[in-house]
Amino acid sequence: MTDMIAAARDILVNAQNLVAFTGAGMSADSGLDTYRDAQTGVWENVDPHAMASIDAWARDPEPMWRWYLHRKSLSENAHPNPGHRALAELGAKIITQNIDDLHERGGSTDVVHLHGSLFEFRCTICSRPWKGATKPQHIPECPLCGNLIRPGVVWFGEALPPREWDAAENLMSTTDALIIVGTSGVVQPAAGLPRLAATRGVPVLEITPQPTALTPLATVQFTGRAGEVLPLLT
Ligand code: APR
Repeated sequence: MTDMIAAARDILVNAQNLVAFTGAGMSADSGLDTYRDAQTGVWENVDPHAMASIDAWARDPEPMWRWYLHRKSLSENAHPNPGHRALAELGAKIITQNIDDLHERGGSTDVVHLHGSLFEFRCTICSRPWKGATKPQHIPECPLCGNLIRPGVVWFGEALPPREWDAAENLMSTTDALIIVGTSGVVQPAAGLPRLAATRGVPVLEITPQPTALTPLATVQFTGRAGEVLPLLT
């Protein structure tokens, strides 16, 4: 492990444009469930088609509205872990699939949210941002067009936000060192992004408790938790 840490530190100290690509495992050490871990994964207990699709929203928005506000509350009550703080200390630009705000609260200032955020809301139809109150028992209506306000997250079957996608592609095309942490690497198109860096010969560090679909891209692969391994690299 010592040699791996030395090799990783050598990569990081020479990096001029470090990028981290993160997923739900990044927030696991802050007490937030991942999506696909056995027993505890969010999708082990909730049907994504019933709670994370535009069709379900059109059919029956109330349960989804309450569920996303519940997840927003879980995120607000969670705290950044040493892994979030380590990425901030390393000065990594963040491309995250996560919808919580722990990277920002952990000190990262350059964060791209590919799948949106629990802290953003907009009109379902005209997309006008909503900055008003959000309470579980009532879905607000857009003052402009009267349609329902929705969570600002990407649901299955929806396109990723173009501005964030372009920013992420640009980061992956210019980075000189990539850290992959906390993602199973199975959800496209996000999971295809690290390949843009790896195929350019950029060194890739992966930190994960178990092998993932992205492990083959790793130059150095740590078997471990984000909150434990990342602080060793600062
Ligand atoms: N530290 C690092 N990695 C961890 C930890 C930890 N403490 N705990 C779990 N992991 C790993 C798991 O082994 C798994 O490889 O984090 C990964 C989490 O994978 P997923 O649950 O699939 O989450 P993610 O990859 O972020 O999912 C991508 O899928 O459902 C959609 O929109 C959702 O953004 C999400 C996307």
